[in-house]
Amino acid sequence: MKFFLDTAEVKEIREAASWGIVDGVTTNPSLIAKSGRPYAEVLREICELIDGPVSAEVVATEAAAMLEEGLKLAKLHKNIVVKCPVTIDGLKATSALSRRGIRVNVTLIFNPLQGLAAAKCGAAFLSPFVGRLDDIGHDGFEIIAQLVRIISNYSLPSQVLVASIRSPGHLLRAAESGAHVATIPFAILKQSLHHPLTEIGLEKFLADWRATHQKIE
Ligand code: G3P
Repeated sequence: MKFFLDTAEVKEIREAASWGIVDGVTTNPSLIAKSGRPYAEVLREICELIDGPVSAEVVATEAAAMLEEGLKLAKLHKNIVVKCPVTIDGLKATSALSRRGIRVNVTLIFNPLQGLAAAKCGAAFLSPFVGRLDDIGHDGFEIIAQLVRIISNYSLPSQVLVASIRSPGHLLRAAESGAHVATIPFAILKQSLHHPLTEIGLEKFLADWRATHQKIE
């Protein structure tokens, strides 16, 4: 499973990229607003840090304007993947962009048929929001299982990208579900890699080693 970072904070991306486990980045208008930086500038900086897909979302709502924005975003860097919401206009823009060879990440997916439609429009990535489905009492991973099955049934080229991950448990379920990608907030990724027994075990090893008064030459 590919790990994407779900952030526009360059410091977080630089740190996580140094761990060797980050395959891409997703942003959205809220994450860009939170960064407080000019859109094109922060996207270019992220694309130079990560040699993988970097999702940048359009903010227009009408298909022709989405297409125009998508073309501008795609020109910023070869790593840019244009993000469109799974509205009718977003699907029209996805079809137009994918016909031009531009990769699209279709976002704000909350039912499997939205995902299937996006795949039929040539979407490179399908982004169901599991956390927000959990927030309203649904099991967000039901749609993930459905889309993984649908993609497999018809050998569709789209990748299921689990978004709105809120816990290490979500990340584990994404991996167990057979999803192609999970996009993970930095804090959740860091939390997922930590276990107190690892810390305790390492301390014991080092204490015993120190008692030998040896050095590795
Ligand atoms: O990539 C989508 C993600 O940023 C949304 O997460 O926690 O706002 O539902 P959240």
